[in-house]
Amino acid sequence: MTSKIIYEMIRLNGSDTRRINHALKVHGLAVCIAGHESFGETDMLVTSLSAALHDIAIRHCEAVYGCCGGKLQEKEGPAIARAILEKHTDDKALIDRVCGIIARHHTYKGIEDICHQALIEADLLVNFDEGEFEKPALTAAVRKLFKTTAGKKLAKTMFGIT
Ligand SMILES: [Fe+2]
Repeated sequence: MTSKIIYEMIRLNGSDTRRINHALKVHGLAVCIAGHESFGETDMLVTSLSAALHDIAIRHCEAVYGCCGGKLQEKEGPAIARAILEKHTDDKALIDRVCGIIARHHTYKGIEDICHQALIEADLLVNFDEGEFEKPALTAAVRKLFKTTAGKKLAKTMFGIT
């Protein structure tokens, strides 16, 4: 199922390979974190699908609003993700959970779902690597927001952050 959802993400982004690559990188790191943290089968699937679809609203937001701020994406993303997911599964609990994470993927307070946590950590690592912010900001984020051992290890291995 994940491969079909990844294809849908690629299809929606079309020739925007930068956005496609971003989603693929976040997906890879989120799955890496989930695996190293020994997530169960359902949590692994939720993490994988959430990561593949987390930024799915960006092109829509740019077309409709002319911008793609984090809060706008959180507002518009779930409906787009739901329409995609419903084509491939009738597991309502799974869809609701993935859409709930996408609705909060730029929200760092009150993270209760471990899959949401894995996504946040993966997205921050990739956003830093893509030059979205400077190293002191990532260092602060790792110290304040990172909760998984795997995410902290990736931050150390990839960027020397402890
Ligand atoms: Fe992202």
